[in-house]
Amino acid sequence: MLNKAPAAPNAVEFADLTLGYGSHPAVHHLSGGVRRGSLTAIVGSNGSGKSTLLKGLVGILKPMSGAISMAAGQRLAYLPQQSELDRSFPARVLDLVALGLWSRRGLFGRHSKDDKARLMTALSAVGLEGFEDRAIDTLSGGQLQRALFARVLVQDADFILLDEPFNAIDAKTVADLIALIGRWHGESRTVMVVVHDLELVRQHFPDALLLARAPVAWGKTGDVLHPENLLKARNFREPWDDSAPWCGGPNAGHDHDHDHDHIHDHQHHRQRDHGHHHGHAAHHHAQEDVSAPPHQVQA
Ligand SMILES: Nc1ncnc2c1ncn2[C@@H]1O[C@H](COP(=O)(O)OP(=O)(O)O)[C@@H](O)[C@H]1O
Ligand SMILES: [Mg+2]
Repeated sequence: MLNKAPAAPNAVEFADLTLGYGSHPAVHHLSGGVRRGSLTAIVGSNGSGKSTLLKGLVGILKPMSGAISMAAGQRLAYLPQQSELDRSFPARVLDLVALGLWSRRGLFGRHSKDDKARLMTALSAVGLEGFEDRAIDTLSGGQLQRALFARVLVQDADFILLDEPFNAIDAKTVADLIALIGRWHGESRTVMVVVHDLELVRQHFPDALLLARAPVAWGKTGDVLHPENLLKARNFREPWDDSAPWCGGPNAGHDHDHDHDHIHDHQHHRQRDHGHHHGHAAHHHAQEDVSAPPHQVQA
């Protein structure tokens, strides 16, 4: 279970972290810590680096510069975006959920009676009792997400990372999964979730990190989702054609070590131009979903 020994207050700390692909930074200059037991929503436009940050946390991506320091002895659970999952994998729901036991039993360890009971309890907790023998390619999006949450449940992790778990699922499933996240939070696990729906974030997530490659704001959700911050994040556009992305951050000067080109200068100006807009209700409304394009559909 959770670590009872006196522990560092932070589950993880970032020190001027830059993550990216090849020579392209996708998350820039992130510094700060995630408190143990905190529940944080990661928000931002498409391409703002949310999934990249989770991959850095799990260790799939190594920092290009700076550092990620995980407190020792934590068990991690990671749920990728559904678009990254191979749904055609021929497996039953029970097999999928049993993957959560691998980190504890080893890949070829035999499942004990206890394990079987644990799997059935997890399936029941996500509302999938009776589904254990169903092939996963016959599940609806919501049912698959429930099964994936059951997998996270059996992992019994200290630090839980979920990438857009609420996309393209029905309202009842969203409510049930939010309740599970609340339960994990109540158990003092550290939880970070990529979420598009800002109303969900306001209602259920005490802390938020707003990304536009660089962090725009990080802290109490009410402060982070301030209209001015949302405007900054919304004005972020994914300039993947530029070979050295905007590298400023809302408060940054020019004392950083990435090269600049003309596109950068444009982007710095654009940020400045919008700096004096304030949170009119109209803006606020238009930004309710900073990130989702109107027709986004996910498998
Ligand atoms: N495997 C990859 N190879 C190269 N570039 C990538 C890869 N994955 C993501 N990117 C790029 O990194 C940036 C951030 O992506 P991502 O973290 O997935 O954004 P988000 O999850 O916020 O939508 C985007 O410009 C994206 O195109
Ligand atoms: Mg993503």
